[in-house]
Amino acid sequence: MILVTGAAGFIGRNLVRELVYKKQSVLAVDLEELENPAIGGEYLKFIRGDLRNNDTLNEIFNHNIDAVVHLAAFTRVLDSVNRPRDYFVNNVVVTENLLELAVQNKVKKFLFASSNAVAGDVGFSLITAKNSLSPQSPYGATKAASEMMLSAFQYSYGIQTVRLRFTNIYGTDMATKDSFIARLCKATMGNKKIEIYGDGNQVRDYIFLEDVLNAIDTCLSLDVPEIIVVGSGSSISVNELVDEFQNVTKVKLDISYVAAKTGEMKAVIVDNSTLKAIGVGEVTELQAGLEKTWNWFASNFKN
Ligand SMILES: NC(=O)c1ccc[n+]([C@@H]2O[C@H](COP(=O)([O-])OP(=O)(O)OC[C@H]3O[C@@H](n4cnc5c(N)ncnc54)[C@H](O)[C@@H]3O)[C@@H](O)[C@H]2O)c1
Repeated sequence: MILVTGAAGFIGRNLVRELVYKKQSVLAVDLEELENPAIGGEYLKFIRGDLRNNDTLNEIFNHNIDAVVHLAAFTRVLDSVNRPRDYFVNNVVVTENLLELAVQNKVKKFLFASSNAVAGDVGFSLITAKNSLSPQSPYGATKAASEMMLSAFQYSYGIQTVRLRFTNIYGTDMATKDSFIARLCKATMGNKKIEIYGDGNQVRDYIFLEDVLNAIDTCLSLDVPEIIVVGSGSSISVNELVDEFQNVTKVKLDISYVAAKTGEMKAVIVDNSTLKAIGVGEVTELQAGLEKTWNWFASNFKN
């Protein structure tokens, strides 16, 4: 059985759907209700609970868990600046607890949702799996600290761990998110107004959800390196992204430029050779990914 934490979140609910579709037994856990638990039939069990509570952890490990995909976390960079302790407890202490219980219960593999934010601001340099950890936000620091716990547990207790360093993930069924592509979709469906922080020349790497799910699936089934940078490997500026998005939707947005937020990085450019090495290198082209994302929004999202 695979434990998926954060199962009601953007990546979690899509991953759970895919795993049960492949007839894989899943134990899904989240603070929030799972939208449609019936889809999993006999393959899906859901626990609504808080991973900071021992009762939830005990209930989880009453099940026979073979692998963990730990996605649950507080995920907002700016929010983390206002409440670093909450982020530390929810993202780091919870990860350490799960690792201890995983070792005690002889779990074979532990996948962790990390972020390119662990590398901090390296300007226009390429971010590789070998960058030193130098996070600049409490959120990034919780991911870096958790990664260190994974490393320690792998070498101390032999559990196989994988740190998936995601860039910006976008895709179908992301209406709950407040990330830039989700905001573009919502603006296009609604008042057409979109704010760009700074001059819009900052560059970012966007990876399509299906490629991320592919990477997770591959890491569950094969022996893979400890660190995988899960990005498309080709970055574009926010202005270029908006142009590309408007080409897809054929809807003109009303763009306003506002002051850049503190900590806004000039660039995120990643080397995705670790992703290629596990066979997931041929990632979805941005235009195709945006088309699928937009089509989903256009037929499913109600303002
Ligand atoms: N989406 C991205 O672009 C992106 C990029 C880099 C890293 N990540 C990481 O991937 C993971 C999943 O991201 P997402 O976009 O699906 O986030 P999300 O916010 O949509 O989902 C996170 C889920 O975790 C749950 N959760 C949080 N704390 C919990 C707790 N104590 N107990 C139980 N459940 C808890 C939330 O209720 C939520 O449903 C996160 O760890 C995030 O940091 C995501």
